[in-house]
Amino acid sequence: MSLHQPADAMVFFGATGDLAHKKTFDALQALIRRGTLNVPIIAVAKSGMTLEQLRERARDGITKFGRGVHEPSFTRLCELLQYVDGDYADPATFLSVRSALGSAANPLHYLAIPPSLFGPVSKHLGDSGCAKGARVVVEKPFGRDRASAQALNALLHSVFDESQVFRIDHYLGKEAVQNILYFRFANAFLEPIWNRHYVRQIQITMAESFGVEGRGSFYDATGTLRDVIQNHLMQVVSFLCMEAPQWDDTERTRDEQVKLFRAVRTLQPSEIVRGQFEGYRSEPGVAAESQTETYASIRLEIDNWRWSGVPIYLRAGKNLPVTATEVRVEFHRPPQVVFREPVPPSRNFVRFQISPRIEIGLNAEVKVDGPKMDGTQLELLAIDQQNDEMTPYERLLGDALRGDGTLFAREDSVDECWRIVDGVLSGHGAPAPYARGTWGPDSDNDSADPPGGWHPPRIAPKT
Ligand code: BG6
Repeated sequence: MSLHQPADAMVFFGATGDLAHKKTFDALQALIRRGTLNVPIIAVAKSGMTLEQLRERARDGITKFGRGVHEPSFTRLCELLQYVDGDYADPATFLSVRSALGSAANPLHYLAIPPSLFGPVSKHLGDSGCAKGARVVVEKPFGRDRASAQALNALLHSVFDESQVFRIDHYLGKEAVQNILYFRFANAFLEPIWNRHYVRQIQITMAESFGVEGRGSFYDATGTLRDVIQNHLMQVVSFLCMEAPQWDDTERTRDEQVKLFRAVRTLQPSEIVRGQFEGYRSEPGVAAESQTETYASIRLEIDNWRWSGVPIYLRAGKNLPVTATEVRVEFHRPPQVVFREPVPPSRNFVRFQISPRIEIGLNAEVKVDGPKMDGTQLELLAIDQQNDEMTPYERLLGDALRGDGTLFAREDSVDECWRIVDGVLSGHGAPAPYARGTWGPDSDNDSADPPGGWHPPRIAPKT
C-alpha cells in the first residue's frame, strides 16, 4: 500500500467518548468544511446509542466545546456517519466494521480509546481483515514508561507495520509549534546565533490555572512528567533545537527529531523538582496518600555540537497562576565595556508563545531618550495572533487521512523520550506541596537553577 494513498474510509473507535465529544467531531466538521474529508465515517463504540443519538451528541459537542455548528458541513457529516455499536472484545463487532467498510481498500482506523485496548483492538482488526491496506492513528498516552511503550509497539507491530502507525501528539499539530520551526528556518538571522556560543539558557513553561477537572483517577496514575513533559514539551524541544529538517520528506524530518532526542542526556534525580498542589489528595479519584506530581520541572542537557553546555529548563503544572505555554531562548549579555552607565541586567531573548496566543517576540535593549546612555528593554513583536485558525486535531486528522506522517511521533522518538525520563519516573519521595495559584513549590523558585530564576509567560492585559 502506498501511504500517500488518501484514506477511503475512516473508522472511529471511541466515538461516544470524551475526546470525541470535545474535539474530534469539531475537527471532522472543519475538515468537511475545508473540503478535505468526504469519505464514510464509521463510528464504533459500546454505548447502546442509535445513529441519530450519536449525531445529536456530535452536535452537542461541537456547540459546547467546538467552534459552533456550520449547518451545511454538519449535514454532510451526518450523511457520512455510520454507527457500529459493539464490544471491543467481541470479534462480531469487527466483522460489522468490515462489512460497513464495503469496498474501501485504505481505511484509517482512529483509536480514541484507552491504551489498554490498543492491543486487543489491533488484533481484532487484523483477524477481521480490517487492517489490510489500512493505517492506524493512536492517541496518547503511549505507554507509561519505556518498557510499557515498547510492549505497546510490539502489539501494534504484530498487526501493523511502523509506516502504518500514526501516534498523535497534538502539540505537533499546533500552529504555534509549526511556527517555531518556520521562524527558525525561513529566516537567515537566527541560525548564526542559535547555538551554545550565543544562547545562555532555554526555558519552557507550560502553565495551567486549572486542576485535574474530573480526571483525577487518570491523572493520579499519570502525573505531570508523563502527561505533558515526556511528550508535548519534548516535541517542542525538538523543533527548537533540531538541525534543519527536510520538511517534504516525512522520514528525514523525523530522523532529525530522533537525532536530537538521542543527544539529550538521561535525566538524573537531581535534575527534577516535583510538586503537588494543596488539596489534590481530596480530588475525586485521587489516592489519599498520593505521591503523584501535579507540577514538575526538569533540566535537560543536550550533548551535541550546537547545544553542549546550554541548559534547557522545562516546567509544567496544574493550578498555577495562568494558563499559558511559552518558550524563552535567552542570550548571553554583551561585554559591559562601552558605556559609563550600566546596561540594564536584562538580557536579549526570543519569546515564542504557544498559547493562549501565537506570539513571537524579540527582546532588545534600546536607548532612553535623553543625555545619558541609559537603556530600556522593548519587544519587537514578529507575530501576535489569535490561536484559532486550525485546531491541532483538524490538522493531524487531515494529515492522517492523506497519509502524511510527518507530524506524528515515530516509534524511535517515543522510545528516546521515555529513555530520557525513565529513571526519574519512580522511586522518588513525596512531591513538595504548593499553594494553588502559585508557581509551584518554593524549592523550585528559590533555587539557583535556572540562572536568574524562572520567567513567567507574558500575558497581555485584557482590553
Ligand atoms: C493533554 C493533557 O495532553 O494536554 C492535559 O492530558 C493538558 O492534562 C492538555 O491539559 C493541554 O493541552 P493544550 O492544547 O490545552 O495546551
